[in-house]
Amino acid sequence: MTQIRHAGTAELRIGDKTLSLPIVEGSEGERAIDIGDLRTETGLVTLDYGYKNTASCKSAITFLDGECGVLRYRGYPIEVLAENFRFVDVAYLLVHGQLPSQEERSRFSELLNWHSMIHEDMRHFFYSFPEHAHPMAILSAMVVSLSTFYPELAQNSPEEEIDMATTRLLSKIRTIAAFSYKKSIGEPFVYPRHDLKYCANFLNMMFSSPVRPYEVKPEVERALNVLLVLHADHEQNCSTSTVRLVGSARVNLYAAVSAGICALWGPLHGGANQAVIEMLEDIQRDGGDVKKYIERAKDKTKAGHAPLYGFGHRVYKSYDPRAKIIKEVYANVLKAMEERDPLLDIATELEERAMADNYFLERKLFPNVDFYSGLTYRAIGIPKSMFTVMFALGRIPGWIAHWREAMSDPEFKLQRPRQIYVGPLRREYTPPKPAKPARRGRKAK
Ligand code: CMC
Repeated sequence: MTQIRHAGTAELRIGDKTLSLPIVEGSEGERAIDIGDLRTETGLVTLDYGYKNTASCKSAITFLDGECGVLRYRGYPIEVLAENFRFVDVAYLLVHGQLPSQEERSRFSELLNWHSMIHEDMRHFFYSFPEHAHPMAILSAMVVSLSTFYPELAQNSPEEEIDMATTRLLSKIRTIAAFSYKKSIGEPFVYPRHDLKYCANFLNMMFSSPVRPYEVKPEVERALNVLLVLHADHEQNCSTSTVRLVGSARVNLYAAVSAGICALWGPLHGGANQAVIEMLEDIQRDGGDVKKYIERAKDKTKAGHAPLYGFGHRVYKSYDPRAKIIKEVYANVLKAMEERDPLLDIATELEERAMADNYFLERKLFPNVDFYSGLTYRAIGIPKSMFTVMFALGRIPGWIAHWREAMSDPEFKLQRPRQIYVGPLRREYTPPKPAKPARRGRKAK
C-alpha cells in the first residue's frame, strides 16, 4: 500500500493548551487531521454522527471524488472498466490489485468453475426457510453457513488459503443467490455449468428449468456484467464499513461478509433499488401523481414522508457516475428485449421534476446508482425481491478486498468507537423493604 504522506500540522487550542496534530495526505491529495492522540493528550474525543467527517482507515482499493463524480478501482476509471472488462476481471483487480494476465484469467475462471457448487447438505438448508423468506435473509444466513462447511480459514491463515476462501465465496454466492430465487418460486434448483461464463451461468441458474431451457441473450449478459462491475466496490460505504468493523474482531471472511449483506439490505443503502421500484409502482397506482411524491419527500412533517429513493448520496454531490452508465445500459436492454416499461415514463418525469426543483438542486441530490438499476433488473426479468441480492453479488469482490486489506494492514486495530454518554448520573439503589409476613388468621376455636 502506498504510504500516507505527512503534510504539515494543524494547531488545536483547547483552553490555554495548544496541540499540534499531524495532517496526512493520500495519493490523490485528500487531506486529514490525524486525531489518534487527541484523547491521550487532552481527554477529548471527537463527535461525528454518521462518520460524515471521519476516515476510518487508509485504503488503496477505490478512489472516489464525490464533487466531480469520479470513481476508480485501483486507479482505473469505472467507465473504462465497465466498457472493456468482465466482472470476473474486475473482481480479480479489486482483490489482487492488478488486472489478470491471460494465464491468470484462465486459472481464475477455472477455479471459479471448480468451486461453483455448494455442498449438498447446504442445499437442504433452503427447504427450511419459510415460503416468503426474503432472499437477502437467506443469502446472509447461507454465507455465514459457509464457515461451518469450510472452517479452515483462521486468523493468520496463509495467503493460499485466503485466496481459496476468496474464490469459493465469489463463486458460491452466485449459486446461493440463484437457489434462493428458485426456492422462493418453488422451482427445482438448477446447478451451475462449467461451459458458461460467470454472468451467463448465473442467469441460467435463475431462469432455466428442467422443462424450459433458457437462452442467454448476449445483451442481457453484457448488461449484467456492467451492472456487477459498477457495484463491485464503493470504498467505505455502510456495508463495507460493516465488513471491516465485524472483521476487525478477527472473525472469518464468511462471517464478516454475511454481516455486510445484512447492512446492504437496508433501504437507505442497497435496499434502495427495491424501494425505488416500490415507490414508482406506488406512484403508478396513485394515478401517476409524481409531484405528490416529490412534495412528500421534501417535507419531513408530511404524513407518510419518505425520501425520494434513488436520489442523494452521502459522498456524491454531483451525478453518480454509475447512474449515468446504468441509464445507457437500461436503454440498450429495453431495445434488445423489445420492451416498454410504463415505470420508465414515471421515472423520467420524476428525474426531470426533481432536477428542476430547488430543494434537490440546493442539497445536491442527484439520481444515484439505485435509481435505474432496479428498472434494468426488471427488464432482465429479475424480480424485485432479488434486486438487493444482485447488488450483493456485485459488491462481493469489494467486501473481500477490504477484508483482506484490513487483515493485512500493519496498523490493524479492533474497531471500537467512543460515545458521549447522556444517560442518568449515578443513582443509588435502595433495595425494597422486605414484605411484612402475612398475619396468620385466627385459629378457629
Ligand atoms: N429525498 C429527499 N430529501 C433528501 C434525500 C432524498 N432522497 N436525500 C437527502 N435528502 C435531504 C435530507 O433530508 C437533508 O435535508 P435537510 O438539510 O433539510 O435536513 C439533506 O438532503 C441532506 O441529507 P442527509 O440526510 O444529510 O444526507 P446523508 O448523506 O445523510 O444521506 C442518503 C444519504 C443516501 C441516506 C440519502 O440521500 C437518502 O436517504 N437517499 C434515499 C435512499 C437511497 O437512494 N439510498 C441509496 C444510496 S446509493 C447506493 C448505496 O451506495 O447505498
